Amino acid sequence: MKGVVVVGTQWGDEGKGKITDFLAEKADVVVRFQGGNNAGHTIKFDGKKFALHLIPSGIFRKDAINVLANGMVINPKAALEELEMLKQGGVNEYNLAISNRAHVVLPYHIELDGLFEELKEDSKKVGTTKKGIGPTYADKYSRIGIRMCDFIDPETFYDKLTDNLNYYNKLFKLFGKEEMNIEAIYTEYSKYAEVLSKFVTDTSILLNKAFDDDKKVLFEGAQGALLCTDHGTYPFVTSSSPTAASVPLNTGISPKYITDVIGITKAYSTRVGSGYFATEFENKVAKQIRDIGHEYGTTTGRPRRIGWIDTVVLRHTRRVSGITGLSVMLLDVLTNIETLKICVAYKLEDELIDYIPANIKDYENCEPVYIEVPGWTEDITQVAKFSDLPLNAQNYLNKISELSETPVSIFSVGPDRTQTVVLEDLM
Ligand code: IMP
Repeated sequence: MKGVVVVGTQWGDEGKGKITDFLAEKADVVVRFQGGNNAGHTIKFDGKKFALHLIPSGIFRKDAINVLANGMVINPKAALEELEMLKQGGVNEYNLAISNRAHVVLPYHIELDGLFEELKEDSKKVGTTKKGIGPTYADKYSRIGIRMCDFIDPETFYDKLTDNLNYYNKLFKLFGKEEMNIEAIYTEYSKYAEVLSKFVTDTSILLNKAFDDDKKVLFEGAQGALLCTDHGTYPFVTSSSPTAASVPLNTGISPKYITDVIGITKAYSTRVGSGYFATEFENKVAKQIRDIGHEYGTTTGRPRRIGWIDTVVLRHTRRVSGITGLSVMLLDVLTNIETLKICVAYKLEDELIDYIPANIKDYENCEPVYIEVPGWTEDITQVAKFSDLPLNAQNYLNKISELSETPVSIFSVGPDRTQTVVLEDLM
């Protein structure tokens, strides 16, 4: 039995899709447990490139069961579009299971996401992906959400949709927005419900059976721990918890089934959307990293903000998410940078601290404290083992491991599946 969790250690976009896809080769079940189509995972193999937003990265493995668990918020239209995109790319045979307790993202959630952002002053805007994620989770906790089991039951869907839109239309009217048509949404979305209903099931039962049968289960986190509603840089976070700690609740399994937690980190840092980013810098080197690393959002196309690697962040994630091994991605992107900086602590009002302050004003006043290490110029994209790396690259990985107090289990030297070096067998 194996329960391996893959989580982002930073602000998302660390390359989780690639590692999940890589580990999925040996997994019997691959599970998305939080978030929705705000996530974007790019997977490349055999000269093909796929951008996944909702569907687990195990979809390319015919034998794997792919689960969208109860902690997710699912836009049915987007899910069907993604399945169609996969079909066009030749991916027809797959096993998919959608939790009957997952919540459904509907057009009014997307409208509300935009409206709430619009109503905020510029400095307070979260910079959401406008996929309706926050408002759908808000409905869940306000107990007016529409779950998959409600969505595929025509009467319940109509009833709940009517109640919710009667309420939200008043809000739209108040803020000068067009009211939404209940009948039109019902007619369009009940068609999606019909198609998706064959995938809807109790995925907690499915997952517990998988563990009972000694299967290998891979949990694929979306976003990163610093975007966690509880442990992230609140309020500039997403509306779910992308930590390993949230897996049992968000999937309906016992915590005892989690055997390993792989924290995915870039060899540097990036962030999209708003919020303080201590190690951010913008100069020729940042531009080089952005261009070589293709640092533009998969979901929104926005250029990503660039920063040096921050081991305060890595230690924070290790603590709140229980990371057992690191996977360092995009190491090749740092080739040809003379001096690399690694953040080891923060300075807050003349005091050295090694944690992320909860108060966002304190965080904004934190200055990064760096050590500098020499870079390398050798092409590392064909490296197949640690000892083949130039000494300076070995030293860089060793420093990250030492400072984050976590072993490096995997490192990646290029976008392809083959450019992944595994130092510890995980699955
Ligand atoms: P939301 O998840 O769309 O509500 O956006 C909230 C914050 O999370 C924004 O700063 C987004 O840019 C960020 N975010 C959401 N999903 C991702 C992701 O997959 N990668 C990186 N940032 C994300």
